[in-house]
Amino acid sequence: MAGERFIIEGGRRLEGSVAVSGSKNASVAAIPAALLVPEDCYLENVPAIGDVKFMAQVLESLGGEAERTSPSTLRLNAAHITSFSPATELVVNLRASFLVMGALLARFGQAMCSPPGGDVIGQRPIDVHLAGFAAMGADIHRQGEKFVAQAKRLRGARIFMDYPSVLGTQNLMMAGTLARGTTVIINAASEPEIASLAEMLNNMGARIHGAGSHTVEIEGVDALHGARHRIIPDRIEAGTFAIAAAITGGDVRICQAEPAHLHSLVAKLKEVGVQVEEDGTDLRVRGTGQLGAVTIQALPYPGLATDLQAPMAALLTQAQGVSYIHERVFENRLLYVSELRKLGAEVVSTGTTAIISGPTPLIGTSVRALDIRAGAALVLAGLAARGKTEISDIYHLNRGYQCIDEKLRSLGADIQSA
Ligand code: UD1
Repeated sequence: MAGERFIIEGGRRLEGSVAVSGSKNASVAAIPAALLVPEDCYLENVPAIGDVKFMAQVLESLGGEAERTSPSTLRLNAAHITSFSPATELVVNLRASFLVMGALLARFGQAMCSPPGGDVIGQRPIDVHLAGFAAMGADIHRQGEKFVAQAKRLRGARIFMDYPSVLGTQNLMMAGTLARGTTVIINAASEPEIASLAEMLNNMGARIHGAGSHTVEIEGVDALHGARHRIIPDRIEAGTFAIAAAITGGDVRICQAEPAHLHSLVAKLKEVGVQVEEDGTDLRVRGTGQLGAVTIQALPYPGLATDLQAPMAALLTQAQGVSYIHERVFENRLLYVSELRKLGAEVVSTGTTAIISGPTPLIGTSVRALDIRAGAALVLAGLAARGKTEISDIYHLNRGYQCIDEKLRSLGADIQSA
């Protein structure tokens, strides 16, 4: 994916099999976890995507090392940390950079970080992270634009999270690993990426129970050690390929997909009229027959992932009837609607609801990727559109999808980067 634009000649039915890469969100949480120890940590199944590169740069800017020892293995080392404050120009690249706070605070008793960047999909505050650190005894203040957190040694606390924030839960879990006493996070996020991070931390000697549920307990220990950890499959990438199969009337086997993480999507696809079969770790998706309108709620896990909301909107432009999409996680995640309309979709948005009337024939034109998943929605729409769709700003897609164009071509899509 070297170019700046994707050019898609739509109307090809996708067929064949495609392997899912390691999870973006699990990877960007695992990299800062290496800050907790002076020894090597090895991550396996790490995707070659922009956000992993950015997160590795954040670690390196603190004096850490990040090195690919194979195409999908990353060696991380934080033996010689020289700074507790990542450079703002790196932090603005992705929201997960704020995870250095929990890890640095736990191991060194101090951390500083600017408000993190990431996709423009809502206000995205960090109050639950900061409230959690404060409950664990950290002194929190602002120094210029940066947040500063300090504590000689954090102490375990009972923390109620106002909202089950994914990165917030991960930050507090890391902070709790080396605290004195036990931390309990109530109303924790339960996404599979939380359980994946807990598994890594437990491999490093942490004592975390309940990760993946809404109550996570972290018994603090005096020290952690290096470990090897395998990143889970990217459920959002898997879901994107499932929708690609459905929208092109195709027949695709999505390998190493971990269907257990995709129950909500599979249920919705079946309701739309798509055939989905689970076969071990694979999913077979067939877009045969007529598609019907549905109502979708984008929610915290195990609800339908907000990251699959825009891709599902692309699919629903091809469904018979009126579909409603309610975005319940981020307040500004329907900006892609205007781009879908350029392709001929009959879709309007009011607040956090999108209303789609279908089916409408999509006609290729020039559109712009506004963020990772909005970009994915346009790729999907382009695959179904008649004629040529040109998508600009595809660097957004490169942040989160490993070789999406190559993978789609292997399934028969006509997609080029230019
Ligand atoms: C993570 C994912 C992102 C996904 C999102 C929701 C990563 C790197 N990113 O983002 O792909 O779309 O989860 O599944 O893992 N909130 C607060 N206060 C806070 C933090 C969050 O009110 O301190 C609110 C946000 O405004 C938003 C909601 O919580 O409305 C969800 O945000 P959160 O779960 O924190 O998302 P991220 O962890 O940023």
